[in-house]
Amino acid sequence: MGDMLEDEASFYSNAEDYWREVPPTVDGMLGGYGSISSIDISGSRAFLKKFLGDGEGKTGTSCALDCGAGIGRITKRLLLPLFQTVDLVDVTQEFLDKAKSYLGSEGARVGNYICCGLQDFVPEAGRYDLIWIQWVIGHLTDDHLVDFLRRCGSALRPGGLVVIKDNVSYEGVVPDQVDSSVCRDLGIVRSLVGRAGLRIVHEEQQMNLPKEIYQVHTLALR
Ligand SMILES: C[S@@+](CC[C@H](N)C(=O)[O-])C[C@H]1O[C@@H](n2cnc3c(N)ncnc32)[C@H](O)[C@@H]1O
Repeated sequence: MGDMLEDEASFYSNAEDYWREVPPTVDGMLGGYGSISSIDISGSRAFLKKFLGDGEGKTGTSCALDCGAGIGRITKRLLLPLFQTVDLVDVTQEFLDKAKSYLGSEGARVGNYICCGLQDFVPEAGRYDLIWIQWVIGHLTDDHLVDFLRRCGSALRPGGLVVIKDNVSYEGVVPDQVDSSVCRDLGIVRSLVGRAGLRIVHEEQQMNLPKEIYQVHTLALR
C-alpha cells in the first residue's frame, strides 16, 4: 500500500517535471504535432456546435472551463469565440503565464487562471455550461479521473456538457514513461465515465490525423 501511494506520488510529480521543461508553444502542447492544431480545432467546433443554443436541452454559452489548458490553445480558437467567459486550469504555472499574452485582447474575457492538478481541483458548483478536457486524462489515475468527472458533473449549469477529447489505445492501458501518463482504450474510458455517474450522449472520432499517432475520440457527457 505504501508503495502504491509512492508510485502515485511519482506518477504525478514526474509529469509535472516533464511539463515544466516543455516550451510554452502550440508545438509544445501537441508533442511536436503543432501542425494538426487547426484540424483538431475545426473538428471540435463542428462537434460542439451540435449542442449549443437557446432551446430546451441546449447548452448555454456563458461560461466554459478549459482543463489541462496549457497555454490556452483551445481557449483561444475554440472557446473564447463561442463563450462569454472561459476559465483555465493547468498544473504548469509557466503555461498559464504564457496564456496571458498568447490569448491577446480576447483574453480579457478569461475569468480565472487556476494553477492546480485536476486530481485536486474542485470546479465551482453550477458555474459551467461546458467543461472541456483534452489531452490530459492520461495524467490522472483511474480513481482520480472518476472523482474529477463526478465533480465536473456537479459544476455544470442546466443543459451543461462535459467533453473529453483524447487519445485512445487499440487495447488496454499503454503507459508512457516519458511524460508519465497512460493511454486507455475506449472501453476503459467509457467505463470510467459510467463510474462517475455521467452518460455519453455523443461520440466521434477525429478524422484526418496523421496515421502514426493514436486515434483521437471526442465524448460528450451529461
Ligand atoms: C498535451 S498538453 C495539452 C494542452 C491542451 N489541452 C491542448 O490540447 O492544447 C497536456 C497539458 O496537461 C497539463 N497537465 C499535466 N498533468 C496535469 C494534471 N494532473 N492536472 C492538470 N493539468 C495537467 C500539462 O501542464 C499540459 O499543459
